[in-house]
Amino acid sequence: MRIVRTISEMRGISAAARHEGKLIGLVPTMGALHAGHIELALKARSECGIVIMSIFVNPIQFGPNEDYKAYPRTLEADAAKAQEAGVDYIFAPSAQEMYPREPLTHVDVDKLTEHLCGASRPGHFRGVATVVAKLFNITRPDRAYFVMKDAQQLRVIRRMNEDLDFGITIVPVPIVREDDGLAMSSRNAYLSAMDRERAVVLSRSLKLAQQLVASGETSSSAIKAAMEKLILSEVPDAKVDYIEVVDDDTVQPVQRVTGPALIALAVKIGSTRLIDNVTVRP
Ligand code: PAF
Repeated sequence: MRIVRTISEMRGISAAARHEGKLIGLVPTMGALHAGHIELALKARSECGIVIMSIFVNPIQFGPNEDYKAYPRTLEADAAKAQEAGVDYIFAPSAQEMYPREPLTHVDVDKLTEHLCGASRPGHFRGVATVVAKLFNITRPDRAYFVMKDAQQLRVIRRMNEDLDFGITIVPVPIVREDDGLAMSSRNAYLSAMDRERAVVLSRSLKLAQQLVASGETSSSAIKAAMEKLILSEVPDAKVDYIEVVDDDTVQPVQRVTGPALIALAVKIGSTRLIDNVTVRP
């Protein structure tokens, strides 16, 4: 496995692989690899001739008061894990390499970004779509792998890929959870031991939502109220950013669950903002 630092070298490697007829798989990440990322890499390994994992903490997807500076950067440990998972190349450019000057061109995906994290993190998805478009152009993958935990991001990228004719197969990979149900996330590393235990309330509230839908509840407000009640009864100082029931496809809020719906939430446990979601069908 090799670590590639420059766009020109990455382009060369990708062009050579394509010339050899190899299927190129891209696993875009910001590093601080956990079992969820490894699942993406293993899936890519099983389907592609060459696997590129990008590790880049993308400054333009963080808001001014967010954790860009604090985001864990653990390239050495990441490289060992990636190698074990069968990654061929890590593309780890510097911010200067990716953004040598102020970018004046951005990718905005409308409508899908109006709610959930799009509403509470203005500019976030513009930064994500822009960097993913750049990564697609640099690595020219046939297939790109994204985890379903970032449900809105997945939908945004899928739509960008279609609207801009990248022609890449976007492969969604199920959420990997800790034994107690907490969704794997690089940000879990921020949690204190006590908050780590309390953070399980997110997945518990989603389980409750699933049970309610399975037992015939269709009212979004009833589902959201039950989730919030559970969260605040277990973690009274949790700060609910949003709990939302949206159409699985359009990401627009629905009043009733009458078709496939995405139930998503963002909650601050201590000072750590965590997200999680589940897809339900009535
Ligand atoms: O999901 C992430 O880690 C990031 O948003 C991504 C897709 C690598 C873009 O920076």
